Amino acid sequence: MTIAHRPPRAYRGRLLTPLAAPGGGAAVRYLDDALLVVDERGRIAQVEPFALGAFRGPVLDLRPAVLMPGFIDAHVHFPQTRVIGSASGPLLDWLERSVFPEEVRFRDDGYAALVAGEFTSRLLASGTTTCVVFSSSCPGATDQLFRALLRAGLRGIAGLTLMDRNCPEALCVPHDEAIPAARDLVQRWHGAGDGLLEFAITPRFAPSCSRPLMEAAARLALDHGLLVQTHIAETLAEAEAARREHPWARDYLDVYDRVGLLTGRTLLAHGIHLSSREWDRIAEVGSSVVHCPDSNFFLGSGRMRLADARARAVPVALGSDVGAGRSFDMRRSMSSAFDNALCHGERLPPADLFFTATQGTADAVGLGCVIGSLDPGKEADFIAVRFPDHVLGASELLNHLVFAPETASVQRSFIRGKPIYSHQP
Ligand code: GUN
Ligand code: ZN
Repeated sequence: MTIAHRPPRAYRGRLLTPLAAPGGGAAVRYLDDALLVVDERGRIAQVEPFALGAFRGPVLDLRPAVLMPGFIDAHVHFPQTRVIGSASGPLLDWLERSVFPEEVRFRDDGYAALVAGEFTSRLLASGTTTCVVFSSSCPGATDQLFRALLRAGLRGIAGLTLMDRNCPEALCVPHDEAIPAARDLVQRWHGAGDGLLEFAITPRFAPSCSRPLMEAAARLALDHGLLVQTHIAETLAEAEAARREHPWARDYLDVYDRVGLLTGRTLLAHGIHLSSREWDRIAEVGSSVVHCPDSNFFLGSGRMRLADARARAVPVALGSDVGAGRSFDMRRSMSSAFDNALCHGERLPPADLFFTATQGTADAVGLGCVIGSLDPGKEADFIAVRFPDHVLGASELLNHLVFAPETASVQRSFIRGKPIYSHQP
């Protein structure tokens, strides 16, 4: 039997990668001229200053571009790709007016396939290499989403959005249909793409889910060790709706806790209006929070206090939350996270924001040992970004990357060292 070996590949460029600073905070490692070597399995074998003759074999020279880890979007809604920028009000009105009518269209597989292609193209053009995605409540559309992720070569964790109340009839799927459909999707897609794809249990939020639906979903998550993702405490009106729907719970978080959805692999998006008790419980269980500042500004939902998470060492991921977020570009999310913190009197250093969009988000979604930085042993998910020639040194690069993304274009993306995107000017 012959075993096909791919030769190791090597890349040359400037290189920027996040580093956790001792005692908290973040720093970066910057190399002005680096060699990045990827082994046969797509893992990073070496990262070091470039020296002639240090690697025997062809080296792809990407200079003057800067190699950095691909961005990770921990919260994005695939069926909202086309309604991005719909300024139709605070959360619950916006869902009724702009989101639900669009999500109904995903009952048509042809439409879902078309938008899934647009969705993956937008992620690729933004330098996102890993996404954690809400699909619609339609299994066919979710299948189309996974097909598109596979075709694009992206790393993705995605789930069928579960909802069986307080939504239009066409989106409402009772638990005895939704759970078997989710189980089918687990069989088909969890671990597909040589492990790049995962299925996530995705109850939309407590106001649109019955207790039996959430309990059955929690069992499925437990059976297969699946990531759970949902929304929490984005607005006060939503929190009130959750209380009305689930009067047996002591507060919003307790709904998810009592049905078994609060686990060490749960991603809670927003978390703007949480009590100290809820924050303490999130920390105790080991769940993570996804900060979606651009969405929060656009819908006027409020401003999350990062300090509440950091004081308890709750992992914080960053999410675009498209279509409430106005851009697929995680650089926009980093910039909005800066503005959000400023509103609380805190000035987040760009290195902190870069860390959060890469290693910090990888840690929060449970992939921190696999991706998030360009260090030996990690899988080689990286992008090559071109900056204007006058931008030199780590601190200038970070300023441009985070606050002036229009000056820095994503030229190439690689997953496990395999090219998946090349910018066509
Ligand atoms: N809460 C429930 N559904 C949604 C959604 O689609 N987007 C946002 N931002 N919040 C939600
Ligand atoms: Zn969302």
